[in-house]
Amino acid sequence: MDKLIIEGGACLNGEVRISGAKNSALPILAATLLADEPVTICNLPHLHDITTMLELIRRTGVELTIDEKLSVEVDTSTIKNFHAPYELVKTMRASILVLGPLLAHYGEAEVSLPGGCAIGSRPVDLHIRGLEAMGAEITVDAGYIHARSNGRLKGAKIFFDIVTVTGTENILMAAALAEGQSIIENAAREPEIVDLANCLIAMGADIKGAGTDTITVNGVESLKGCRYSVMPDRIETGTYLVAAAATRGYVKTKNTRADILDSVLLKLTEAGAKIETGDDWISLDMEGRRPKSVNITTAPYPAFPTDMQAQFAALNAVAEGVGHIKETIFENRFMHMQEMIRLGANILIDGNSATIEGGEHLKGAPVMATDLRASASLVIAGLVASGETTIDRIYHIDRGYECIEEKLQMMGAKIRRIPG
Ligand code: EPZ
Repeated sequence: MDKLIIEGGACLNGEVRISGAKNSALPILAATLLADEPVTICNLPHLHDITTMLELIRRTGVELTIDEKLSVEVDTSTIKNFHAPYELVKTMRASILVLGPLLAHYGEAEVSLPGGCAIGSRPVDLHIRGLEAMGAEITVDAGYIHARSNGRLKGAKIFFDIVTVTGTENILMAAALAEGQSIIENAAREPEIVDLANCLIAMGADIKGAGTDTITVNGVESLKGCRYSVMPDRIETGTYLVAAAATRGYVKTKNTRADILDSVLLKLTEAGAKIETGDDWISLDMEGRRPKSVNITTAPYPAFPTDMQAQFAALNAVAEGVGHIKETIFENRFMHMQEMIRLGANILIDGNSATIEGGEHLKGAPVMATDLRASASLVIAGLVASGETTIDRIYHIDRGYECIEEKLQMMGAKIRRIPG
């Protein structure tokens, strides 16, 4: 397995171009299965998870045409089966996103259950219950979800008792082609859901309220082709901003948006960063200052994103003061903390809360990535640790960060990948 080797101590200084959002690209690629005409998706990030989703779609017999910029045209006219196999689904839980589109467009779907995940049990019961409310007949057998609908799904009023991002996305996509009106209550409000809704609307869907906790969908008989560009990745943006803050440096993140990162920018300002923003850029300058500790509680958007929790743990590890982090979304998303303790971080974990007393320095050591955002936080910790840090199992990081070592090298980081 590949490893990343980081020689810590560099103060990051430079610019970075942000890629398309992984968590927007995945549902939008799944949504192409709803259309009766070819759909072209642009600004896709070059990530392993995107490749997995494209392979999942290709396995159904659908024609994919990929150009040199990784814009993808999906033509469903050749679809042959409605099956999402375990061998692919086990590598990417977001595969569940093909369930709603296949069922709504073709009346059947057979999707492997995602199985376990490092950060939590992450069941899909809310996805299944929502589709059943729309008239789907669903059984779970031998590790697969078998879904059928006699004729079109029926619009329904669906209340999510837990806010679920991909659950909201699956039901939104199914409702787009259902007969009649659907109302999704306690819907997730993430910007990626707004991006998906905008793509569905470009395909001819009738959707109101995306980005609020109540989404109203009037189903249509069919959806047409369109060309749609995926929004920038707010988590990738936040990750590079935190990396610059932790190393007391400067970064200008380009091709991104500031209006979807309020909670993160607020915390970085609290940490002492000077933040400036423009139409499609955000800059952060620590002016050489050591960051101050901040307190974080994760919650559904627009509150502080769980996908930025690990990165701020790395910042708090070298900040001035004591920072408290509370994870309320997933039951096991502190695995990076143990690895940071190996680098000398002073962290006390109590259930889903962690108290981090910032130290002037961390000391490089071999560590292991355990999940996508944890691996990003270990890169940040390695950048500030003195000496050499080796990060193993970096296939996790390749799932969500396009060319991370090249982007960091451009900012002055001493980081290289060694094939494992
Ligand atoms: C999405 O995961 C993101 N993934 C995650 O990003 C992100 O961390 C998460 O939302 C929370 O913001 C994608 O968008 C592809 P949830 P998702 O359903 O949809 C429980 C990353 O790093 N739940 O919002 O799977 C669940 O267990 C990834 O890019 C049920 O109980 O998360 C969790 O505790 C990691 N039953 C809570 O809801 C269900 O049917 C929120 O999960 C569904 C969810």
